[in-house]
Amino acid sequence: MHLQWRFVRSFSRAATSFPLPGLRIASMRRFFARMRRSYSTTGAVAHNREGGIIWADAGDQLPGPADQERQRQLSNRDIEAARTFHRVTAHSFTSVRTTPHTLDWDNRPLPYKIYPEAGAVALPRDLELSPVPALTAVRAAALVDSETPVDREAVARILFCAGGLTRSLTVDGQPYHFRAAPSAGALYPVEIYLAASEVDGLETGLYHFSPADLRLRGLRRGDWRMHLARSAGMRSSILEARAVLVISAIFWRSTWKYRSRAYRYCFWDTGTMLANVLAAANAEGLPAEVVTAFADDQVETLIGADGEREGIMCLVALGRTAPARAEWPELRPLELDTIPLSATEVRHPGLVRIHTESRLASSEEAREIAQARIESANLGKPGPETAPRPLEDEAGLGLGETILRRGSTRVFAREAIDASELATILAVSSSHPRIDFPRLTETYLFIHAVNGLEPGAYYYRRETGAFELLKAGDFRAQAGYLCLEQPLGADCTAMIVYMGDLERILAAFGNRGYRDAHLEAGLLGGRAYLAAYALERGATGLTFYDDDTSRFFEPHGAGMSPLLMIAVGVPRRRESSRDDAAW
Ligand SMILES: Cc1cc2nc3c(=O)[nH]c(=O)nc-3n(C[C@H](O)[C@H](O)[C@H](O)COP(=O)(O)O)c2cc1C
Repeated sequence: MHLQWRFVRSFSRAATSFPLPGLRIASMRRFFARMRRSYSTTGAVAHNREGGIIWADAGDQLPGPADQERQRQLSNRDIEAARTFHRVTAHSFTSVRTTPHTLDWDNRPLPYKIYPEAGAVALPRDLELSPVPALTAVRAAALVDSETPVDREAVARILFCAGGLTRSLTVDGQPYHFRAAPSAGALYPVEIYLAASEVDGLETGLYHFSPADLRLRGLRRGDWRMHLARSAGMRSSILEARAVLVISAIFWRSTWKYRSRAYRYCFWDTGTMLANVLAAANAEGLPAEVVTAFADDQVETLIGADGEREGIMCLVALGRTAPARAEWPELRPLELDTIPLSATEVRHPGLVRIHTESRLASSEEAREIAQARIESANLGKPGPETAPRPLEDEAGLGLGETILRRGSTRVFAREAIDASELATILAVSSSHPRIDFPRLTETYLFIHAVNGLEPGAYYYRRETGAFELLKAGDFRAQAGYLCLEQPLGADCTAMIVYMGDLERILAAFGNRGYRDAHLEAGLLGGRAYLAAYALERGATGLTFYDDDTSRFFEPHGAGMSPLLMIAVGVPRRRESSRDDAAW
């Protein structure tokens, strides 16, 4: 069965020619102006839950880099920067009560980057999303064939699975759109650019993906692979790609709510999006590799980002073909206006500082970081273990259906799932993706109600699929507390906690490792979401009290910091899934 899906709304179908910067599309402007007005008044969504008050952090007390000159001299190897940032953006029972933050709904950032004057290419709207079982799509590199060509339809499917609008909710008469991948607070800070070099039906060039109208906006003509490969230490996957995704984050979209701590969230959100991108690429049979070591300046210049408001998160090489030629087009500044996101933007110096201090300055430094290795984690003594058999990869829903059905669970039913299902979710989440750094995170979890596994706190050994019991008992109350006192952590059947030894990570990769660890946690979390929904279960990302969580998993996890939590379980059926979705 091929799943037919029509775009959420029929937006302007204004005729578009090849994207030449400077082309005006009046109807798009009107549409976006309308959308902007709507978005600034949808405050009720989060007010339902939180009354406009959000958890706050102390990261804003950090000084920013003194000036542009000094920023560029800060070193990735000065790891005190990441240590400090992590410490001051930690949540605790006290911090969330002593540093409250009120959301300014009138200044809510627009969730779309809009180039009103760039020409557009429409992507196909009647997409046939992949029927390949989602579990297979996440795990099976066997689907991949390096000869697979890429065409406009394949690009559309991958981009849709990454960031397409899947559902809309009307609050107080205003539309509110949700996307294919989960995003903390539904703030969607992540942007996607496409450097197409050999894509049938698409002229070679650099484009920006606009999920709102499923179009690409043309930014630059030409083949930019050599430029990108150079920035990434001549990474061969980039040099030989048929297309490269450049993934960035616009920090203000997330800092509006989470302040400096949003830096972590931007990497989580990139990770959850990558889970979908890699599964979609697999389903297309395309080789894909995520690249995180690159000279930031060079990629920023290409897409016109400043590295302070908008920073590069990663590159994704898609497909394989003949390598790019040695010469590449002259890189001029990108002079294309975008619509302001809100009336004013607040700068968060602590965030700017950690992003600056985790920059890589050159192609050589990028290569050095990509080759860095890390000692294996020094974990505590193993406990009694059980290794339930995961389900076959063919089990469950197809990838397209899984992505369309996915939506974070708002209330869990406190019902049990089978050990084979949990084993499948963890196995699917855990396989190390094709990425330019080795595995950085470890998986711990609370099991509340899983048939065949005793309730308790566990370590999940990825190599063997074994659940090692650390503490037996009913920890619903503790789990609910640790995820910022959200009932989801107590009511789910299991709460996964991705952890990392930041000291070891920073020693190996410098501050860049801080970005990578959060991106990996987001990617593994995104896969846990996909696996849970493929099995027709539910999942929700969760944030947490940092130090209390670390302490809970001692002594086994001594030295580990929580990086992301994902609750999985049985959604409560009568839930109205959208009434408070803007966490
Ligand atoms: C990294 C991450 C952290 C999240 N943290 C929370 C959380 O603490 N509490 C919560 O209720 N939802 C949380 N969510 C779920 C988001 O609110 C949800 O993804 C967003 O509202 C979009 O809705 P959807 O996932 O249903 O498409 C998180 C999601 C992600 C990806």
